[in-house]
Amino acid sequence: MSKKDDDLDYETTGHEWDGIKEYNKPLPRWWLWTFYACIVWGVLYTIAYPAWPGIKEATPGLLGFSTRAQVAEDIARFEEANSGINAQLASVELTEIAQDADLNQYAQNAGAAVFRTWCAQCHGSGAAGVQASGYPNLLDDDWLWGGDIEAIHTTIAHGIRNEEDPDARWSQMPAFGDMLAEEEISQVVNYVMSLSGEPQDASMVAAGETVFLDNCAACHMDDGTGDRFQGAPNLTDAIWLYGGDYATLTETVTYSRFGVMPPWTERLTEAEIRAVASYVHGLGGGEASVE
Ligand code: HEC
Ligand code: HEC
Repeated sequence: MSKKDDDLDYETTGHEWDGIKEYNKPLPRWWLWTFYACIVWGVLYTIAYPAWPGIKEATPGLLGFSTRAQVAEDIARFEEANSGINAQLASVELTEIAQDADLNQYAQNAGAAVFRTWCAQCHGSGAAGVQASGYPNLLDDDWLWGGDIEAIHTTIAHGIRNEEDPDARWSQMPAFGDMLAEEEISQVVNYVMSLSGEPQDASMVAAGETVFLDNCAACHMDDGTGDRFQGAPNLTDAIWLYGGDYATLTETVTYSRFGVMPPWTERLTEAEIRAVASYVHGLGGGEASVE
């Protein structure tokens, strides 16, 4: 044991291994006080703010702070700021929206946001629909129920073939499996394929045309171009809601289809419905209104 060690005036814990002693040095004061201060601050914080998890919710904290309330406040502020333009949007003639640059800009932006939240899950985030699934593409000028702003507004407000809204657009294609022989179905399917130039069995087309005129033309029209009053698709344009191959067409004709879209009047405000109608109308396929 060296002398130097003994000269040092440090207290030891009394532990010693192979001549190595353990000093007993207290923590620096400043460190200790910072440590205590942190504990006090931590306790006060959990009292003041929401902190301890409970079974249903966390302790609320004395200051009543809540991120949810903050979001609600922010939303209320935006709604307040937009209330004027929303009221205008909800009350002008539908055809005037596109003519007022500011209003149209606002409707397009608000409509895009509504679309992302409420429509994209069925129509796709880019509104291109989901191929062969019955969810139509809203970008093209092929409309089941009409593509002017009034028609689009009605479709969105009331929906299609739903039970909730008595004003929903409604029509129903019969299931021809019960009404036509298998051969007749095969013939009419080949005829439908000929309408849009899909490769087909030409020997069946003439007989298929007769079946079509007797059973299908009432809704799809004599020339197969469809009828918007009944939401009966155009069968000549090679744009398919469910698919244009032989197997899918046979399924459509045998069992029919029943595409449902929910109504939006209960879930969205009139301004939001008009905004999203303007957005859809502005996507590329929108048609001018007939005066
Ligand atoms: C649950 C799925 C679903 C949601 C959500 C949905 N749609 Fe649809 N939508 C459909 C289906 C299915 C059709 C086609 C129905 C048919 O066969 O006639 C359709 C048709 C349409 C049409 C008619 C297209 C045409 O060619 O005439 C428009 C316009 C439309 N939707 C807009 C919207 C908008 C805007 C929203 C959001 C506010 C929305 N949809 C939300 C399923 C949905
Ligand atoms: C009462 C009216 C009505 C009659 C009659 C009718 N259809 Fe339809 N058809 C519709 C409607 C409405 C739809 C759209 C159904 C949907 O989207 O849910 C449709 C859809 C279709 C489709 C799907 C098109 C696509 O884009 O995928 C085909 C194919 C079709 N019909 C063929 C026929 C044929 C063939 C007949 C005769 C054997 C026929 N329809 C008779 C109303 C009718």
